[in-house]
Amino acid sequence: MPITRRHFDALIIGAGGAGLNAALRLATADARVAVVSKVFPTRSHTVAAQGGVNAALANVLPDNWHWHMFDTVKGSDYLGDQDAIEYMCREAIPTVYELEHAGVPFSRIDNGKIYQRAFGGQSQNFGGPQAARTCAAADRTGHAILHTLYQQNIRARTHFFDEYFAVDLIRDQEGAVVGALVMEIESGEPLLIESKTTLLATGGCGQVFRTTSNAHINTGDGMAMALRIGVPLMDMEFYQFHPTGIAGKGMLITEGVRGEGGYLVNKEGERFMERYAPNAKDLASRDVVARAIVTEVKEGRGCGPQRDHVMLKLDHLGEEVIAKRLPGIRESARIFAGVDPVEEPIPVFPTAHYVMGGIPTDRFGRVVSPVGSGPEEVVPGLYAAGECACVSVHGANRLGGNSLLDILVFGRAAGIDIMDYLRENRHHRPMDETAVEKAVARLTRWEKKGEGISVRELRDEFRKSMEDHAGVFRTEEVMTEGVDRLKAIRAKLADVRLKDQSAVFNTARVEALELENLIDVGMSIALSALARKESRGAHSRPDYPKRDDQSWLKHSLYTQEGDRMDYKPVRSKPLTVETFPPKERVY
Ligand code: FUM
Repeated sequence: MPITRRHFDALIIGAGGAGLNAALRLATADARVAVVSKVFPTRSHTVAAQGGVNAALANVLPDNWHWHMFDTVKGSDYLGDQDAIEYMCREAIPTVYELEHAGVPFSRIDNGKIYQRAFGGQSQNFGGPQAARTCAAADRTGHAILHTLYQQNIRARTHFFDEYFAVDLIRDQEGAVVGALVMEIESGEPLLIESKTTLLATGGCGQVFRTTSNAHINTGDGMAMALRIGVPLMDMEFYQFHPTGIAGKGMLITEGVRGEGGYLVNKEGERFMERYAPNAKDLASRDVVARAIVTEVKEGRGCGPQRDHVMLKLDHLGEEVIAKRLPGIRESARIFAGVDPVEEPIPVFPTAHYVMGGIPTDRFGRVVSPVGSGPEEVVPGLYAAGECACVSVHGANRLGGNSLLDILVFGRAAGIDIMDYLRENRHHRPMDETAVEKAVARLTRWEKKGEGISVRELRDEFRKSMEDHAGVFRTEEVMTEGVDRLKAIRAKLADVRLKDQSAVFNTARVEALELENLIDVGMSIALSALARKESRGAHSRPDYPKRDDQSWLKHSLYTQEGDRMDYKPVRSKPLTVETFPPKERVY
């Protein structure tokens, strides 16, 4: 039976902050926009962002975008591209005001201005005293932003395909991306969306790890779709472990807790961050704090019967501050850790949180990819923004509060550039029907029932392997074993059968498609990590403990075909200011 086809100017895959901010730009300019989301849009993972969005508004302490830029470059361990970082830090200010005008209910200070809290890695005056740059709506900032953007999109008549799963991108004969094959989850019906442009805004891939702050939906779908059309993934070895996940569970306890004055203690009750980061202490950069916690536990100073976590203390902040600034945290701690933080500390341990790498783009959201072994070129019609993309503004380590900023700034930038593209590309290009057949075959492959390994079994084995072999500290030996395990797991995919999972609403089929994506993305993380023989940002190798700018100040590119690694230079020249040259990174 022929597959139904729908036609749009712009297809956006993913309905988090990046996708919805791009969609809003386009829909208000009267483009025909389709947003495909595998969940109802306001359940996208942006909803879970807690602490806030960075912008140098200087509402609470002196600040400016240039200091924000310095902190972001330093936080990235000098791997971030400084043109894109400058753009993001400058654009942060109008972006937050735009959100305010769109209706985001930010918390306020007494003079009515937007409340800003301190977050890790922030400084005044290029490395001086702590700054307060993170604009917050209590500890539910992502929720406030996502709901506002969704409502604005409804008003602008964006067309939503809710609970549709994107299977694969489709190119034309010349290599331009001209849409995607998607599946309605409830019915299993395929649908071809033909579109002049396609924006991947599918978020992160935290589900590659067993313990994560990420939602079940974060399965790296966009990244895997890019890999399958030959686009490499950039800097995938840089995976951020948020220091304060609820121990043993992984749910996020916002850095905002430490920003409000909370602090970490070990089993002796010692504020151990004073030893690891004498100036910034608990508000050092995330990679530094996560390593400190793991080291405390490894050296026997962990808390609890298993000595496997540390404690986050905030009872001294008082019930009123907690109720006003951190209400969600109190609820999460009560539900998931069984403690009321007004009275007791919260048991915490690092949790897989954010991938700094992703689909390589320029600062207009255009996907740039080497063509075969040739130079980099823009892939016509294809854009990416948000966590699935790598602009690169986070380099080897992202600062807290820069993630909501990234999705908003580059979502909007992509929307603007798509309008320009549409002005010059007025007509739909025909799909390559061989590519359509290939995508349909991927969909029908996951109808197999009968004897074999279940999706759940293979997924559990995979996520445990990633946790054991690509965690906070990585050595050659541990990672080599991990890569071997992953290769064996990848080979087992062919034996997966949809058996013990519910067949209702195609859940089993979707989980199989997601598992395939997870394994593809996990492989890119493991191989990129094994190849990088230095320690930088979140990539920490006890066997190569130093940063090595001579050999490794470069972006890595993983191509799926042949599991190949390539490299490209960092763009260290900003747009209007001087370069921040690499320095030793201390907090
Ligand atoms: O700790 C947090 O609230 C997380 C923020 C972020 O990842 O940017």
